[in-house]
Amino acid sequence: MTQPTNAQAAAGASQWDSPDYVEWWIARIARGPRREVEFAMVAAALPFDAEDVFRFLDLGAGHGALAGFLLQHFRRAEAVVLDGSAEMLQRAEENLAREAGRIVWRHASYAEPGWWASLPPLAVVVSSRSIHNVCPVERPVLDLYREVRALLPPGGAFINLDHLGPGVPHLVPHFRQIALERQLRQREAELGRPVTLEELRAEQRPHQPHRQHAPNPPLGDHLQWLREAGFDLVECVWKDLNTAVMAGYVAA
Ligand SMILES: C[S@@+](CC[C@H](N)C(=O)[O-])C[C@H]1O[C@@H](n2cnc3c(N)ncnc32)[C@H](O)[C@@H]1O
Repeated sequence: MTQPTNAQAAAGASQWDSPDYVEWWIARIARGPRREVEFAMVAAALPFDAEDVFRFLDLGAGHGALAGFLLQHFRRAEAVVLDGSAEMLQRAEENLAREAGRIVWRHASYAEPGWWASLPPLAVVVSSRSIHNVCPVERPVLDLYREVRALLPPGGAFINLDHLGPGVPHLVPHFRQIALERQLRQREAELGRPVTLEELRAEQRPHQPHRQHAPNPPLGDHLQWLREAGFDLVECVWKDLNTAVMAGYVAA
């Protein structure tokens, strides 16, 4: 595995270095039936068939959940698993041990220019719930999208599953309410008994801010940046409340 870059802390990824936080996130957030749906949408958005041979980069791969899903779905594909957190990468190595022969590991922060150095050739870049961690003022998303586009050959694609800021302000309280009710139902299903709102709140870890300022950009900004970055075909292929799968395709 390559060594980390020094800009990681400045990039807002510091909470991901905490074993405690990582454990809590994996146990309480990175779970549930919706993840399967989201990952299936990422797989469907890729311009490849299940038997195709290609290599993808998982940007901010964390403990390897999306990379593992795609390696299962595309049995002949290879992965580059990149993350800024040594803690997360260690878990990814454990979780993906059976696929180790199909994986190249990178410990780097994509908030730092040069993160793409020495990557093997790629057909596709994917990312799941990671890019919103980086402050879009300090590290413009458009710049990152341009860097991703520069890695891709004709026929390539970038599929980004991520959290969005609200595009329509009056929907914010409705989205919040729906999300809360879902959390309650999911927790009740896990525990097999009714759960009160107070109980749910008490369980929720004080959320460390992903970054110091600037809200998540809305969907329209992401689609605009993908076009500006040079993707020939841009689409939101799936959206549920404030989470979306956004795709940028390079013409063949
Ligand atoms: C919410 S987790 C998502 C992990 C995984 N993609 C998933 O969906 O299960 C966010 C991940 O992004 C990584 N991350 C955040 N900022 C990063 C950066 N600048 N460079 C590399 N990784 C970063 C964190 O270390 C963490 O593993």
